Amino acid sequence: MSDKKKRRSQAWYGKQDKDGFIHRSWMKNQGFPDHVFDGRPIIGICNTWSELTPCNAGLRDLAEAVKRGVWEAGGFPVEFPVMSLGETQMKPTAMLFRNLLSMDVEESIRAYGIDGVVLLGGCDKTTPGQLMGAASVDLPTIVVSSGPMLNGKFKGRDIGSGTDVWKFSEDVRAGEMSLKDFMSAESGMSRSVGVCMTMGTASTMASLVEAMGLCLPTNAALPAVDARRAALAHLTGKRIVEMVEEDLTFSKVVKKENFENAILANAAIGGSTNAVVHLLAIAGRVGVDLTLEDFELGKDLPLLVNCMPSGKYLMEDFCYAGGMPALMKELAQHIRPSNTVLGKDITSYFEDAECYNRDVIFAYDAPIKPKVGLRVLKGSLAPNGAIIKPSAATPELLQHEGEAFVFENIEDMKANIDRPDLPVTSETILVLKGCGPKGYPGMPEVGNMPIPRKLVEQGVRDMVRISDARMSGTAFGTVVLHTSPEAEAGGPLALVKTGDRIKLDTENGQLELLVPEEELAERRANWQPTPPHYKRGYASLYIDRVLQAEKGADLDFLVGKDTRPVTRESH
Ligand code: FES
Ligand code: MG
Repeated sequence: MSDKKKRRSQAWYGKQDKDGFIHRSWMKNQGFPDHVFDGRPIIGICNTWSELTPCNAGLRDLAEAVKRGVWEAGGFPVEFPVMSLGETQMKPTAMLFRNLLSMDVEESIRAYGIDGVVLLGGCDKTTPGQLMGAASVDLPTIVVSSGPMLNGKFKGRDIGSGTDVWKFSEDVRAGEMSLKDFMSAESGMSRSVGVCMTMGTASTMASLVEAMGLCLPTNAALPAVDARRAALAHLTGKRIVEMVEEDLTFSKVVKKENFENAILANAAIGGSTNAVVHLLAIAGRVGVDLTLEDFELGKDLPLLVNCMPSGKYLMEDFCYAGGMPALMKELAQHIRPSNTVLGKDITSYFEDAECYNRDVIFAYDAPIKPKVGLRVLKGSLAPNGAIIKPSAATPELLQHEGEAFVFENIEDMKANIDRPDLPVTSETILVLKGCGPKGYPGMPEVGNMPIPRKLVEQGVRDMVRISDARMSGTAFGTVVLHTSPEAEAGGPLALVKTGDRIKLDTENGQLELLVPEEELAERRANWQPTPPHYKRGYASLYIDRVLQAEKGADLDFLVGKDTRPVTRESH
């Protein structure tokens, strides 16, 4: 504790004057004695607990476990709330508010007298939003995730969050499942607190946080209600105190290599396409030069984790099979040397790992599927890029040319998709506009639009679908996402008309609108953006300042960080 005087928190609590009196005295109304202000590390516990974010409903208890660890290591823990983003509860989409959460996190950390921070998050947007905010302040930072819910159960079998919702709702539309069964599956799907127990965006982000060395090993997969998660939270509380003493800040842990390891891991776990926008946004805050093209790093990697939506098991199974340590051990030959919150190389996270179930975590030499990493697409329909997730697609559709059927916006799609006379076949390419960052606004998870009812009734379960939207990490299908520039920004997507031919060539990373340039120029000259739905408030700021998908859909003025000390007092 030799550096007590230099601690950031001492500029609040170490002063023998009016300002020090004010900072300490008001804190003492919670029963804290004098000696906790003696210069020990003050650890902020940044909590996204909320009853409206059911995925994070266990974080109050985990915060108490973190506090035990902080006290034990000689620190002083202080928990504070930030905005919480309930993926399944917020309209028009939680993604609209990810950047707002990041601002809340950043300014809360900066304005308060803390030396290090533990991020408690889990649901899809909470993890990236917290990391973006924390990266922009750059204190010692460590993550504890909510952990997945217990496996869903229905009629004696396992069902997965999200993934089985999409399946069941198509089954109901096809007349293969009764509405009564559909409704009763609701309760069995969500049996405990925690995040979606498929390899959706929440578990993907937790897995990538582990691959980046931003949490303690095994954090990603331990079930939310497993006592070992509380023990891990306790150990995390101990570790953050040491990180403050070592001055191991966010940017000393996270470099380009950590992002590369996340991209490699994302391929092998069959992870969410949403990881692309989130990692790009986090990299923008840290100051790491990460581009959409860097995601091709994972393209030749095999699928090793047999979890929904790319496989059949769930996160509990992944945990019991060995979790991320066992998975990373399979990838050892690809993993880049990189630092971690332990101050040791990432190999220390998995060198002693074992796999306990080869039907859940496959060996690198005998994978589930070869070459499944996300593919980046470019071409006349997506000059700045688009992405597709081959592990969740129908292999035959990955190379496909067909006629477009265009929906101008989400209302158009919902009103017409089930029309019996919709002029589409299984060869048609469905195109949805107006669902990008500016367009919706907030780039919602609607890219996996439903298959038209008349085709569902014929047994069609997948088609090529293209949009500027995202899709849920729990979803599947041959779905081209994040097309940029988005339609609302005047990208070529805005110019597509029903009947145009489109060519998807996943093998060569191409997405082409097969319309002559002169014709497109004429359409461009006649194109008008739709008047924005929001004229005031955060949403209007968002629409004005949001960056496109290939930049992580952050707000332009949030990119980068500000690590200067705050010197002015409040009184
Ligand atoms: Fe919160 Fe899936 S909805 S993690
Ligand atoms: Mg989601």
